[in-house]
Amino acid sequence: MSNKMWGGRFTSGPGAIMEEINASIDFDKALYRQDIAASKAHADMLAKQGIIGADDAKKIAHGLDTILSEIVAGKFSFKRALEDIHMNVEGRLGELIGDAAGRLHTARSRNDQVATDFRLWMRDTIDALDAALAGFQRALAQKALEHAGTVMPGLTHMQTAQPITFGHHLLAYVEMAARDRGRFADARKRLNESPLGAAALAGTSFNLDRDMTAKALGFDQPAANSLDAVSDRDFVMETLAAASIASVHLSRLAEEIVIWTSPLTGLVRLSDKFTTGSSIMPQKRNPDAAELVRAKTGRVIGALTGLLVVMKGLPLAYAKDMQEDKEGAMDALAALSLSLAAMTGMVGDLEPDTARMKKAAGDGYATATDLADWLVRSLKIPFRDAHHLTGRIVAKAAEAGLPLHRLPLEAMREIEPRIGEDVFSVLSVDKSVKSRVSFGGTAPKNVRMQAKKWLRKLEKDKS
Ligand code: ARG
Repeated sequence: MSNKMWGGRFTSGPGAIMEEINASIDFDKALYRQDIAASKAHADMLAKQGIIGADDAKKIAHGLDTILSEIVAGKFSFKRALEDIHMNVEGRLGELIGDAAGRLHTARSRNDQVATDFRLWMRDTIDALDAALAGFQRALAQKALEHAGTVMPGLTHMQTAQPITFGHHLLAYVEMAARDRGRFADARKRLNESPLGAAALAGTSFNLDRDMTAKALGFDQPAANSLDAVSDRDFVMETLAAASIASVHLSRLAEEIVIWTSPLTGLVRLSDKFTTGSSIMPQKRNPDAAELVRAKTGRVIGALTGLLVVMKGLPLAYAKDMQEDKEGAMDALAALSLSLAAMTGMVGDLEPDTARMKKAAGDGYATATDLADWLVRSLKIPFRDAHHLTGRIVAKAAEAGLPLHRLPLEAMREIEPRIGEDVFSVLSVDKSVKSRVSFGGTAPKNVRMQAKKWLRKLEKDKS
């Protein structure tokens, strides 16, 4: 039997393999809520414009409500023969209300339908991701406040660079997440135009009120070009780009957690809630959740890359290639959402070994810059020369196998005779971090202020 929805000129139905490759219902059924909302808005508008009768519109709305409750209750039977969510809903509507159902598809196409549905879905998903990112920021800022004064080694090139505070390190991720939220908000702003009424590609001869459907669905305005409206998938690519960057941020923190929890550094401990054991090595405490967050980034970037490749050679307007926009995007955004939940949990859970952090912070001559700065400030030595002198003092300390603050004053004076006893006041890691009070610096005082500022702002955003 040929397809009920489009089979007029066909004598038989599609072959099994055709149906298999063509059907999208297995994944686009996730759009049911949006599909039904868009159909209701469309039917209302058709009735208001006198394109369909008020009675029919009422039956349609009623039928669509019934379908929504059937799907929510798990009583709806999705059929692959009906390809996608749009035809599954319309097919069922026909069973429920008869002929009136056939009027719903006046002046629309699945092309503008799917573009509308997926935009609505993306909008909801972005809102959920934004809330999750805010929760992640809250956990970070909270932990940062607790550890505003916890000293740890700051690294560049993975080499000990200067002492920093753990709170400062965590607040760096709060800033990243803020930009991630900004990118999602931008994508949301741009996607919020209604394709509904663009029909297949050229618009329609019916006298539609596209402003009305746009408004009913919470869009800012109708999309201005019908060809663009049905063939644009920027909104998916842009959201996936934002998601990719957010995932990369999570992955970097995940990698740090892996390093910090390794016995090789032992800087941080995760509780049993976020670690797993080994089936053969009884001593192991593996940071699997962090590793999986790191790995899931691959899926997200993969979905973006995949869709960019799908779109790059497509002429206007709609082509079935675009059906491939959904599975990857839905999978990727679900992965990001799960990763955010796991990271928020881990941030709340992790406990730094403050003694070990402090010791590591002092290793590797981490306060050498403080010594150079002291030479500049106290002896008015130009920084370049101070840097050189400090390098020689560090070499001397290394030769003697001593940390800087244990090197006798006489040894330092062999290199710069004017160095006084008070130099020791800048060589401890605590003094070092306390001195970094420049705006954006690591001083505990700064960190406390920034963490509180974030917590206040996040609290305000909530209400
Ligand atoms: N399932 C399709 C998709 O996701 C809907 C649009 C189909 N349009 C068409 N003319 N075959 O892209």
